[in-house]
Amino acid sequence: MPASRAPVETPGAEALLRWYDRAARALPWRVGPAERRAGVRPDPYRVWLSEIMLQQTTVAAAGPYFARFTTLWPDVAALAAAPREAVLAEWAGLGYYARARNLHACAQTVAALGEFPEDEEGLRALPGIGPYTAAAVAAIAFDKPAAVVDGNVERVFARLFAVETPLPDAKPAIRARVAALVPNARPGDFAQATMDLGATLCAPRRPLCGACPWAAACVARARGIAETLPRKAPKAAKPHRCGVAFVALRADGATLVETRPDSGLLGGMSGPVCTDWTAAPPDAAAVAAAAPFSADWIEAGAEARHVFTHFTLSLRVMVARAPLHAAPARGAFRPFDAARRAAPTALRKALDIGAAALRNGV
Ligand code: ADE
Repeated sequence: MPASRAPVETPGAEALLRWYDRAARALPWRVGPAERRAGVRPDPYRVWLSEIMLQQTTVAAAGPYFARFTTLWPDVAALAAAPREAVLAEWAGLGYYARARNLHACAQTVAALGEFPEDEEGLRALPGIGPYTAAAVAAIAFDKPAAVVDGNVERVFARLFAVETPLPDAKPAIRARVAALVPNARPGDFAQATMDLGATLCAPRRPLCGACPWAAACVARARGIAETLPRKAPKAAKPHRCGVAFVALRADGATLVETRPDSGLLGGMSGPVCTDWTAAPPDAAAVAAAAPFSADWIEAGAEARHVFTHFTLSLRVMVARAPLHAAPARGAFRPFDAARRAAPTALRKALDIGAAALRNGV
């Protein structure tokens, strides 16, 4: 593409919607364009649940969780009535656990209201619903003309209008560009079409401009800079934290887990007892003080490493065989498989390392 060519079209919703009518992804929570024309209405519960799951999570990763949640809890009243521990246990592995706590609280609020609010303002008042989710649910579930801007949509619009300001500073300008293009007809399909365009054609690297319905209108393409956008402010290096996880196994196959306090990281989730996670490795006294019962704690010989949004973590794993009568100062014994399934990924790694070490007879 010659760098000097100017775009020959102005972008319009119609061209994008025509593309969406042909190319919409079939997604488990989606009412596709043909069904929509036939009068099928999206279920706000499924739209909301999918949007919460898809924050910070890919479509591929969220899919199995969405299937399981909607099987266990087919509507908002069922989710509201579920025990919170069950909801958190099913969420384990998806990350960003405040989402799961808020999901349950939100289900209870909506169940008490009787239905989901239909506009952005009403949706924003619900637990765990910020500006993005309010806009997405208003548009997709209720066909309101809301500007829905996720990471994929940011990339599409940064390119379409050659916004060279780095993110996050570019967000207001990009949002204004999206808002200006949202049509009054089919705003929900427009929102989903912009997401699909970003997810399929307008990829971060090697965008498939030849198939793009907005190619002739794309300023970045005309300038030959599509692949360099959006620009991003450099990220600060992540700090590192360390700790020790105590993995205990009883002869009956149970393992010791404790539920973390509601406030703070992994709040409400359960996993092996740990020391605090600190910048400096805990000293011997801190390790001894955190051990859940007195035993011959042995190094498993491997560390559980995990990358969180704001820091990286390495957990030294200590293991012990617990007597059947062990009375731990912290936590309770649960069958290993159930404990593993309910644990967030970082702590699941520690459980696996500990169990493997004990199996191999450290
Ligand atoms: N990403 C976030 N929400 C989405 C949706 N409703 N459809 C496809 N991708 C998405």
